[in-house]
Amino acid sequence: MIMKFTILTLFPEMIENTMSESITGRAIKNGLVELNAVNIRDYSGNKHGQVDDYPYGGGAGMVMQPGPIYRAYMAVTEGKEKKPRVIYMTPQGRTFNQGIAKELAREDELILLCGHYEGVDERVIEMIVTDELSIGDYVLTGGELPAMVVMDTISRLVPGVLHNDTSASEESFSNNLLEYPQYTRPEEFMGKKVPDVLLSGHHANIEKWRKEQSIERTRLKRPDLLNEG
Ligand code: ADE
Repeated sequence: MIMKFTILTLFPEMIENTMSESITGRAIKNGLVELNAVNIRDYSGNKHGQVDDYPYGGGAGMVMQPGPIYRAYMAVTEGKEKKPRVIYMTPQGRTFNQGIAKELAREDELILLCGHYEGVDERVIEMIVTDELSIGDYVLTGGELPAMVVMDTISRLVPGVLHNDTSASEESFSNNLLEYPQYTRPEEFMGKKVPDVLLSGHHANIEKWRKEQSIERTRLKRPDLLNEG
């Protein structure tokens, strides 16, 4: 099972350069994640490469025109029997979380639309968008960082992307609990020791300690998660 991401953006290099690093970069190299960053400007249909214009009715800023986005969408879905979901990154969308990531990870292809300027002409949103996602209640300059947040979160759920099969499911939020604290060498750092139980080799006790730590941390740092069920 692999995941294909097609991103409609005015800044394809921003996506490619960032996604090609670290774990997502390895996943792309290994063919577990496919990334196709499409430049909307290539579909401007205009010798000046124009993709935005003044808002009807007046007001500040520019609005991305529907034509280039629609043509880019048609080009990337051409000949496809099953049209992939098209996710528009916007502060008006559902707030992204681990549950939404798990649901989206079941798809085999996703198209992510990144807006810029003051927004995107409403008509093309009505025509092609199936889902709207926000990454939080703040306003960014464009949808590229949000799209990469979504792609990173989904990529690590693709089987084989993380070396250790259980680590994706065990970590924070998989059961609405935060992760237990982790330690590595040295055994003592500036007078601070690693908890004895972790050096004991007693697997049942270690498991129990970790579970307790997860619950206690969640109670202290994110009590809201305990009530989410
Ligand atoms: N575009 C601008 N701000 C955003 C946000 N918070 N989430 C998703 N897309 C955005």
